[in-house]
Amino acid sequence: MTERNGKIPKKDDNYTHNINKNNERQIDRRGFMKVVAGAAGVFAVASLPWGGIAAKELMGLADKEYPRQKITDLKDIAVGDSVTFSFPSEHDDALLIRLAEDKFVAYQNACTHLRCPVYWVKDEQEMICPCHHGKFDAETGAPVAGPPRRPLPEIVVEVDGGAVYAVRVRRYEA
Ligand code: FES
Repeated sequence: MTERNGKIPKKDDNYTHNINKNNERQIDRRGFMKVVAGAAGVFAVASLPWGGIAAKELMGLADKEYPRQKITDLKDIAVGDSVTFSFPSEHDDALLIRLAEDKFVAYQNACTHLRCPVYWVKDEQEMICPCHHGKFDAETGAPVAGPPRRPLPEIVVEVDGGAVYAVRVRRYEA
């Protein structure tokens, strides 16, 4: 290709001078729209299962597995008593209650109303929130009085070798 005065002469140019530019632009737009529509479709299909999982996570409905954590030795919690612990992080306060010789229940103890700590009152066999007189069923974690509407998240525990361990957080069902 030769260049004279900074311009490319038509007779030996790169064969693009006779292309209908309007038509070229139309084809480009159409092609682009097809690519966009195709990509959107692929994205929508590919993200369907993940969207469901993400929604479940955000709504707190998913069970969560964490490394097993020792709460207490059996000898250190009498029937009818409770101990406090943290699970799964040190900021998640929780309550373990020994309801019977072989029956343990545990819950994250931030009240589901406005997150005041919930206590086990042994004499009354109730979990209470002193802030607004909320009460929760010790067997299920369900609210039974006061403003709370959602159960306390349950911590699944297991007894092994003379100790009680926290193994999982079970979120409440919507
Ligand atoms: S914070 Fe527990 S009842 Fe209001």
